Amino acid sequence: MSEKTPRPPRRKRYSGKNPQRFEDKYKEHNADRYGETVAKVIASGKTPAGTHLPIMVAECLDALHLSPGMIGVDTTLGYGGHALRILEKIAPVGKLIGLDVDPLELPKAEARIRAAGYGEDRFEAVKSNYAGITKVLTSRGIPEVDFIFADLGCSSMQLDDPSRGFSFKTTGPLDMRMNPARGLSAADWLEKISAEKLEVALHVNADEPRAESIAKALAGRSFGNTGAFAKAIRESVRINDQGEMDLTVRRVFQAVRIAVNEEFVALDTFLRALPNCLKSGGRAVILTFHSGEDRRVKHAMRDGVRTGVYSEMCDGIIVATPEEHRGNPRSSSAKLRWVMKA
Ligand SMILES: C[S@@+](CC[C@H](N)C(=O)[O-])C[C@H]1O[C@@H](n2cnc3c(N)ncnc32)[C@H](O)[C@@H]1O
Repeated sequence: MSEKTPRPPRRKRYSGKNPQRFEDKYKEHNADRYGETVAKVIASGKTPAGTHLPIMVAECLDALHLSPGMIGVDTTLGYGGHALRILEKIAPVGKLIGLDVDPLELPKAEARIRAAGYGEDRFEAVKSNYAGITKVLTSRGIPEVDFIFADLGCSSMQLDDPSRGFSFKTTGPLDMRMNPARGLSAADWLEKISAEKLEVALHVNADEPRAESIAKALAGRSFGNTGAFAKAIRESVRINDQGEMDLTVRRVFQAVRIAVNEEFVALDTFLRALPNCLKSGGRAVILTFHSGEDRRVKHAMRDGVRTGVYSEMCDGIIVATPEEHRGNPRSSSAKLRWVMKA
């Protein structure tokens, strides 16, 4: 009996202009081969699937005051967009250490940076929380660096991939962990949380005005996926305005994500460690995306200037240009602050 070789499954055709599912956008996932498609997606004000458009690059580079030969840390490597631009500025002899907690995206960013021609002597990728920056540096025998950069929050790769469970716009497992190997998924966290603790998380992490009623409706419940969770949030409030309803769902997702990843605990630890990791005259530049993050950064920087740890800080916040807002809506909530070590 002759055995037929099974046919490989046919790849789904790229469905015209707008494939809906993240996995079907294979042209966008393959920027090297389909540069034109990717350029069109960017021109339409969207982020191509599986990528991240770096935010306020010119402003960040300007605030970092980079020069050839400097050594520094990008504490939130993400797609590596900022890192590549930083590497250009510190070349040919500088060194960048790139940290990220995400074990799925970190190797891809490292491969991208290697492909751009930066070897081990110029760039090192380290899977670490930025809360552990002191340990990362001391274990490499470089306790103080010239600059430290942080672009807080999640990357577009994390937010847009339904299988990571961050987005209320697509249905996927309710996970939300930047490092899926650590801690509780959002679903497990919600199942264990009391209404009192959830209310505090909604207040503190997202300034949610309806925290009490939403917490009472959601705490301790089991949600099968992001869609079911989003539906339960909508059912827990009485809001007629669709825009306000979407904002509420967005805020609740944000609050749960911050809690699951212990983002404020990590940020507070990082801000305390920061001055000791910088050389005198060294600069820290931080991009934040919501008030909870910005408040912490502003206070840490102001306190540092008041106590003489820092000699100078930015005069107010720096924001993206209206052109950047149009080209990349994710830039509209970005606030940049910088500080210089005394
Ligand atoms: C906004 S993205 C950075 C994008 C990057 N600047 C770029 O140009 O591609 C934030 C990244 O920081 C990572 N991240 C978030 N919290 C972190 C933490 N506490 N320690 C290290 N990395 C973290 C996320 O996994 C994500 O990849």
